[in-house]
Amino acid sequence: MKEHRQIITFEEALKSTRRNSIELFKKHVNPEEANLLKLANVDKRYIRAEGIYLYDDEGKSYMDFSAGYGALNLGHNPPEVLEAVRNASSLPSILLAGYNHLMGALAANLSELLPGNLTMTAFGSGGAEAVELALKTARAYSHRKKFISCHNAYHGLTFGALSVGGATRYRRVFGPLLEHCETIPFGDLESLEQKLRGGDVAAFIIEPVQGEGGAIVPPCGYLKDAEELCHRYGALLILDEIQTGFGRTGKLFALEYDGAVPDIVILSKSLGAGVIPISVSVTTEEIWKKAFGARDRFDLVISTFGGNPGACAAALKTIEITLRDDLSGRAADIGRYSKERLEMLKSKHSLIKEIRGKGLMLGIELNSPSIGGAALRENLAPMIISHLLNNHGILTSYYDLAPLVLRFEPPLTVTKDQVDKAVDSLDAAFSKGVVGLGAAFGKSALGRIIRSP
Ligand SMILES: Cc1ncc(COP(=O)(O)O)c(C=O)c1O
Repeated sequence: MKEHRQIITFEEALKSTRRNSIELFKKHVNPEEANLLKLANVDKRYIRAEGIYLYDDEGKSYMDFSAGYGALNLGHNPPEVLEAVRNASSLPSILLAGYNHLMGALAANLSELLPGNLTMTAFGSGGAEAVELALKTARAYSHRKKFISCHNAYHGLTFGALSVGGATRYRRVFGPLLEHCETIPFGDLESLEQKLRGGDVAAFIIEPVQGEGGAIVPPCGYLKDAEELCHRYGALLILDEIQTGFGRTGKLFALEYDGAVPDIVILSKSLGAGVIPISVSVTTEEIWKKAFGARDRFDLVISTFGGNPGACAAALKTIEITLRDDLSGRAADIGRYSKERLEMLKSKHSLIKEIRGKGLMLGIELNSPSIGGAALRENLAPMIISHLLNNHGILTSYYDLAPLVLRFEPPLTVTKDQVDKAVDSLDAAFSKGVVGLGAAFGKSALGRIIRSP
């Protein structure tokens, strides 16, 4: 124990200067991330957020077109969700030797909204935790070992989730991962059937639209056909709707596009409106009973924070608002409008390779520039992101596994005027061209890197 402990109080932390908070983050959290944010000059100190808007300590405002990577479908700090959480604040904050009555209501609502007989919910906090719950459910149910997932898939960073992830970058760092996990190309039914033929597959886990892989939409009907194949060979179909769920793709759940009925659905991110972490793995009564319906197994799906009253309050209110305001219809409508406008940009700027995605989960894929060196290519997206933030007040990012794909993923409450402003800003940025954009970084650290051969 240190002799003269000096802790920072909440009030002091809240008031700390930008410089001080960056220093502490760099020293105690993640120096590499701090360096990257500084390099791209996107290390703002945001002090307030409301809806699509963020405000920094210099009085500047920004529109958030990355929206918590799918966690902020209602925008920042939705007042009705905050109020619901406040209203639940006199309930026991955690109750493990007993159950809280909001949990059952939320599970009942999920069962009402999801297709088929998906009636049983297991609760967690983060997305990856729900992925673990789903994988474990499949093994406990089937007594089979194998999991099939897709190239380029992203399911989170816990060991199970990494084992069914498609990124070699992560595998290299953390391996060896779970055994008996194999990947196939996304959208490829033949490869899926080949893997299933052995009759030893516990589950096929898949995102209905690949998110971090770069907003990749599978062929029409793929999910339904995958469901049919899985069932023919006795494997479960797990749909990871963590990023696509609650209206993001223009339907309440992306599985609706193909009419797919999976055996397990995983949800998180916008379920708690980004206000409180919550995640769920929802399955059928038959699967749940066989996997966990015994005195020595019912507690294998319980965690300390899973389904706590505050999180359930946020989720119940989020679902209410999402349905009442028809946010899926809105995402479909404004998504269509956004895509049309972005397609027009593509026809104007050779730097844009493709516009893809569904609803308001859109990706702008960049062409790798033919001029400049590797450093320029590697920093192309950070350069555009920095320009958009500092010159136009638009916050975006690239997809984690696709560094050349920019996110166009605003809250579903975004207006057409706000979309127009973002597209006009992209137009202005692309009009500068790679050379013009690079030159604007002058002698800054990023400018020097970009110009290096
Ligand atoms: C489809 C998908 N699955 C799982 C996860 C992991 O969620 P978390 O970061 O909350 O663990 C993510 C996160 O981006 C995701 O997009």
